[in-house]
Amino acid sequence: MSQESVEPTQAGISEEIEQIADAWSRDGKAETQPRLDYPPYRSSLLRHPTKAPQQADPEGVELWAPVFGERDVDPLEADLTIQHRGGPQGERIMVTGRVLDGDGHPVRGQLVEVWQANAAGRYIHQRDQHPAPLDPHFTGMGRCLTDDDGVYRFTTIKPGPYPWRNHRNAWRPAHIHFSLFGTEFTQRLVTQMYFPGDPLFALDPIFQSVVDPAARARLVATYDHDLTQPEFLMGYRWDIVLTGPHRTLLEADTEASVQ
Ligand SMILES: [Fe+2]
Repeated sequence: MSQESVEPTQAGISEEIEQIADAWSRDGKAETQPRLDYPPYRSSLLRHPTKAPQQADPEGVELWAPVFGERDVDPLEADLTIQHRGGPQGERIMVTGRVLDGDGHPVRGQLVEVWQANAAGRYIHQRDQHPAPLDPHFTGMGRCLTDDDGVYRFTTIKPGPYPWRNHRNAWRPAHIHFSLFGTEFTQRLVTQMYFPGDPLFALDPIFQSVVDPAARARLVATYDHDLTQPEFLMGYRWDIVLTGPHRTLLEADTEASVQ
């Protein structure tokens, strides 16, 4: 049997996505997390957790886990466009929002880290070898601390969509990966932010593994014209809610994949 005949097509994956969505809408129960067992996301089938998380003593973990202090994070690290001698290719944007708890209170001093592909959809990563150009002026990683209002703010370029090998002609919608460390190392949370109106949303089994459309919508940033700066950058706003019914979906495993 040739590889071609066993490789799933986009039409086949889309049909699976639709069947799961139909089954969910018949059931109608709100879901607040991505499904770990989501067959259209083929590469997750063998590696998603099948057992309950290992319990750890939080204080014990703190004895050997990495720590950081406010002075370890330079404000310049929030600007992904100034890490090299020249500016990166692409559409310069600001991405900002608030980190809130379930009661709407700001989460202050929170370490927020981001990583992303360049404007051509390429990561600096040995497993990403598809023929899009690397940008010598863009590494794609940044971090900052939230301020007293829980606000984080990054200057970067809009990442491109990129191909991956889930099925034939699979493309990921443009996205930025986010990590939040909480107040202890054991509380690290990882998620992805998407851009509004992306035509790849319906086709992407990672985005669709969040089966509840209301929850999926919370992963999509809002274009905010008030954030734009004349002749300089466009602006997107995205709040992250850590707990409660409006919480942002967080990837339960912290594999921090490049997908
Ligand atoms: Fe990615």
